[in-house]
Amino acid sequence: MSNDSILKTFLVTFSLCVVCSVLVCMAALVRIDREAYNQLLETRTTVLAAGGYDDQLAKGASADELFANFEMKVINLDTGEIATEIDPAEFNPKTVMDNPDTVVAIPAAFDIASIKQRPKFVRVFIDNSKEQIVVPVSGPGMWGTMAAYIGVKNDGTTVNGLKFYQHSETPGLGSEIERPKFQNQWIGKKLYGNSGNLAIKVVKNGRFDPNGADAVHTIDGLAGATVTGDKVQAMVQYWFSDHGYGKFLAKYTKSKE
Ligand SMILES: Cc1cc2nc3c(=O)[nH]c(=O)nc-3n(C[C@H](O)[C@H](O)[C@H](O)COP(=O)(O)O)c2cc1C
Repeated sequence: MSNDSILKTFLVTFSLCVVCSVLVCMAALVRIDREAYNQLLETRTTVLAAGGYDDQLAKGASADELFANFEMKVINLDTGEIATEIDPAEFNPKTVMDNPDTVVAIPAAFDIASIKQRPKFVRVFIDNSKEQIVVPVSGPGMWGTMAAYIGVKNDGTTVNGLKFYQHSETPGLGSEIERPKFQNQWIGKKLYGNSGNLAIKVVKNGRFDPNGADAVHTIDGLAGATVTGDKVQAMVQYWFSDHGYGKFLAKYTKSKE
């Protein structure tokens, strides 16, 4: 076939188009894969930080390897049971919140954090190596949604760590919730009092008394950001109330006794 033939020009152009399209599609697929992996890695790193693995991460340990200590489960907050019918690897919190059948309105009497509605199903992270469970919490801050993971020991009350991964609080004020100075205070604190009452609280900055009878339940608030501190307290108190993880934790801690 002559190089000047129209058919040859068409065939060469067509082949070039096909090759380029395949390359573009492959590049797009690699990118989607990488974005999905980066998202997964971010979740894993946050869960690990909340579970007290900060030091190992800082020393360069692989998040993926440390995460092998964890077992993911989806729980039904209404029953407190593990939802074995849902595959944790396929679980998508957004899909749950977008489906009216899997969203629960929070009755005003329970809605101490003004969250309004919560998912029926939540994915939690069970860490058999540190005998703890890491759970997500979220709620309104002063300016937007705050979201974090909290690690709680198998006794169901001792906090192993808290790690915020989302908020819209003001830099230098409420945003200090993401700093180690605030987050590290949570380590070792007890969520509940001796009679099972929710006792964890965030007090106004400077009012924390390390020798006080309630020191084990108390977090020192942020300077000039009492509003954010109050919102964090309300958020954590809601999620560990009977309407949040209460039912599940009661069953879970009993199974670990
Ligand atoms: C522009 C602006 C942004 C603010 N952002 C926050 C914030 O993110 N978190 C917060 O608790 N307070 C914030 N405040 C301050 C609150 O209005 C309130 O004064 C403060 O929470 C009270 O804390 P204090 O009792 O420690 O002074 C902000 C105030 C202004 C004017």
